[in-house]
Amino acid sequence: MTKASPDRQVALSAAQPTGQLTIGNLFGAIQNWIPLQDHYDTLYCVVDLHALTVRQDPQQLRQRILELAAIYLAVGIDPERSVVFIQSQVHQHAELAWLLSTFAQLGELERMTQFKDKAQRHRLNVNAGLFTYPVLMAADILLYGTHVVPVGEDQKQHLELTRDIAIRFNNLYGPIFQVPEPMIQAQGAARVRDLQNPEKKMSKSAESELARVMILDDAATVLKKFKKAVTDSLGVIRFDEAGQAGVTNLLTLWCAATGNSREAALDHFSHHQYGKLKVETAEAVNAVLDPIRQRYRHFMEDPGELQRILDRGAGQAAIRAEKIMVRVMDALGLPVGLRGHRHG
Ligand code: TRP
Repeated sequence: MTKASPDRQVALSAAQPTGQLTIGNLFGAIQNWIPLQDHYDTLYCVVDLHALTVRQDPQQLRQRILELAAIYLAVGIDPERSVVFIQSQVHQHAELAWLLSTFAQLGELERMTQFKDKAQRHRLNVNAGLFTYPVLMAADILLYGTHVVPVGEDQKQHLELTRDIAIRFNNLYGPIFQVPEPMIQAQGAARVRDLQNPEKKMSKSAESELARVMILDDAATVLKKFKKAVTDSLGVIRFDEAGQAGVTNLLTLWCAATGNSREAALDHFSHHQYGKLKVETAEAVNAVLDPIRQRYRHFMEDPGELQRILDRGAGQAAIRAEKIMVRVMDALGLPVGLRGHRHG
């Protein structure tokens, strides 16, 4: 059942539907969302409104929203246990973002490193949405009384701002918002490196295709990319992030994909050659990706089922979001009018 159980804390996370996902996104983020379903009341969102802060091709965006939702489900987010939805389908996100923007200071938003980075990279389109992006993220989180937000290290600053906004509001109007905690993804698994340039994080945007493994790459492509992964000439297999970033990355990925410890990885590989490490890491990653690729294909071949799941998720999310919206509006002195009754 997806009903909010009163004894469970709420966990919420989200990703933007921009570009295809890499195994960095899988092992670093989405896969860590799966076990939370056993212990938390979970919501997982496709944040398409956030994607608009960078110019998107409409046709492509439409497709990528569905693809990302299909990936969530394929990886193991269970719509019977989690609310899976698309941000733009729940109008309360945009509404609350406006209200919260009056509680965020320009100076705070100017300090956000992600804003500074993106403003650098998209110099010709430093739009106001890019600037207020963290306020929309705060709305995503605060609308559901979220206790914990599983995110990567890079989102910590946004979480801090979300907390500040919630505390500021509560101090003025009473305890309406739950103040959320970040749940920073475990080290190791969270840090998948570029296969060609292991000093860098694996990203969607590296120039070489060989640098990243996509969740939807076929098995032969995955094997090819691992065989061509950059290592070093030391010929020793050990964990040494500074001295042997490439080898360490392969070991870390093998651990993430097989669920083995670092000790087990060393036992298994330490007296062998890089060739074996590369091939077995590719095989382990393929063993994780195979069922994901199959389930993904199933969802993309039957968009009707996917659409039904997302419609239901949006309905469930909206009922919950509306309850908070009404309280926030009322606290601020805005008329609640008919909407107070809309969702019963
Ligand atoms: N800003 C997040 C990222 O780039 C995505 C995001 C938007 C998010 N809203 C969120 C993450 C709410 C967690 C909770 O990764």
